[in-house]
Amino acid sequence: MVSLKILAVTSEAFPLAKTGGLGDAVSGMARALHESGTAITLMLPAYRGTIDKLTQVREIARLRRLPGGEARLLHGVCPALGGVPVLLLQNDKLYDRDALYADADGREYQDNAIRFAALSHAAARVAAGATRLPRPDIVHAHDWHTGLVPLLVREKGVNVRTVLTVHNMAFQGVFPMETAASIGVHPRHLNVEGIEYWGQLSFMKAGLRHADRITTVSHTYAREILTERFGCGLEGVLATRLHDLLAVPNGIDPDEWNPAADAHLGGYAFSAGNMENKPLCKQRLQRHFGLTENPRAPVLVMGSRLTSQKMADLAVQAIPRVLDDYPDLQVAVLGQGDKWIEAALRQLQRCYPGRCAARIGFDEVTAHMLHGGGDMLLHGSRFEPFGLTPLYAMRYGTIPIGSRVGGMADTITDPGIRAGRDAMRNATGVLFDGETVDTMVGAICRAMSLYRRPQVWQAMRHRAMTADFSWARAVPAYDSLYRSLIPDEALQQAPVAAPARPSLLDHVTAAARPLVGSRTGKESASSVLSAGAA
Ligand code: ADP
Ligand code: GLC
Repeated sequence: MVSLKILAVTSEAFPLAKTGGLGDAVSGMARALHESGTAITLMLPAYRGTIDKLTQVREIARLRRLPGGEARLLHGVCPALGGVPVLLLQNDKLYDRDALYADADGREYQDNAIRFAALSHAAARVAAGATRLPRPDIVHAHDWHTGLVPLLVREKGVNVRTVLTVHNMAFQGVFPMETAASIGVHPRHLNVEGIEYWGQLSFMKAGLRHADRITTVSHTYAREILTERFGCGLEGVLATRLHDLLAVPNGIDPDEWNPAADAHLGGYAFSAGNMENKPLCKQRLQRHFGLTENPRAPVLVMGSRLTSQKMADLAVQAIPRVLDDYPDLQVAVLGQGDKWIEAALRQLQRCYPGRCAARIGFDEVTAHMLHGGGDMLLHGSRFEPFGLTPLYAMRYGTIPIGSRVGGMADTITDPGIRAGRDAMRNATGVLFDGETVDTMVGAICRAMSLYRRPQVWQAMRHRAMTADFSWARAVPAYDSLYRSLIPDEALQQAPVAAPARPSLLDHVTAAARPLVGSRTGKESASSVLSAGAA
């Protein structure tokens, strides 16, 4: 079979750059495809420190007249991702900063439109064969930061297909119309049929309009974003692309999140078959957070962005109520986000010393400790495209209490509040509906009553820990999606001998591929419509 060349363009990829699930998801996808033999190359900005995580780094091109000025295109490989090849766009003026998107006070960098337009233009030039690199067959863009890629690739008139994956419709990259000139977007796109959005311009809309296919990260979210409640104003645009919209659920990296071999657990490894060390992880967590070291105290953890998406505003009201209701309960929160929520958590810590503690900040190690030492994870969401955090918790035997939305509705098994004790043995978590403090408190109470029934709780824990959410299922789905975009005659060409570590660079000296034919591709991945979801 012909090996397709995929260029995955993104603003995050763990461990190179991460602020949330986007980084985990893009890396997980790239690594899984790479290991299955697909020639996938990641492309992202060279943020501060990113280059240090690559080996074999060399300059491939100097790209002039990009938004924000000249940039270097570097190629390397990422050993932490099993050798996935990586292209970094280096322009220190744009990317060498303390953080990825915003300053310490949470103010978005003023030039974010230029920063991510530069990345998108650079990707489009790679796609057009304007560098030493051969053209990829598919450019796979992720979220609004790369939303201009499909538009720019199409504008160049090159025969390269594009896919846009929506990880979160709530973040759209909307900027003043006047920005258009500085980001190299032609005025003909600045209308409602193009990328205009309520008098401004939208990167996400550019991607939705111009990508050959649009995917999102769970089946339920794929249906939800077609509605007014979840579509964030772009449901109408999506409705025009219904036949090109697919759901490819994320997976989790079972090596990175593995309680049996997790360096962050301080030597206290455990597994579904041997839970002896889980109480020691709890003790370590309690010590780390300054909670009273009590092995019998149920520990409720929360680790997420402290924003309205994650119902953190409700959580700070629900937490004191359950701490009052259950005198042995302890709560540990790791997160950062809205300043008033951070302040409310610090206040709770003062009000409930030894029983409630908050770590404000972003800390990968503590995130692992939370899952290792917790009994249950509070993960309310007003919308959740996929929701990696509850799956990480499940793998560590920490039972998620989540909202019945998006990916959580698909991945957390809960037979429901009226289900008998036997049915709950098959559950992997507790789901709740609605967006009120009462429903959140009710769900925590339900989890507490299950926790008080050790046999049911142990069965749930075992089921949660052994559920399979690896990337293995996503690989054939992406593969068939990519292939559906390439005409049959191109797919039937004699295969080029597959390189041991396939990458775009491996093809630099190979003969250029002939241009592939028409835009019409056969459809093989399941669409939202065929999933009976529209
Ligand atoms: P989202 O992408 O919407 O934030 P996900 O649950 O899919 O939600 O992914 C969140 C990722 O970010 C997880 O890997 C989680 O561990 C991580 N994360 C969130 N907040 C923090 C934090 N304060 N410190 C460390 N990791 C965090
Ligand atoms: C987004 C979503 C989250 C999802 C992640 C990875 O950040 O909010 O639900 O898991 O992307 O796709």
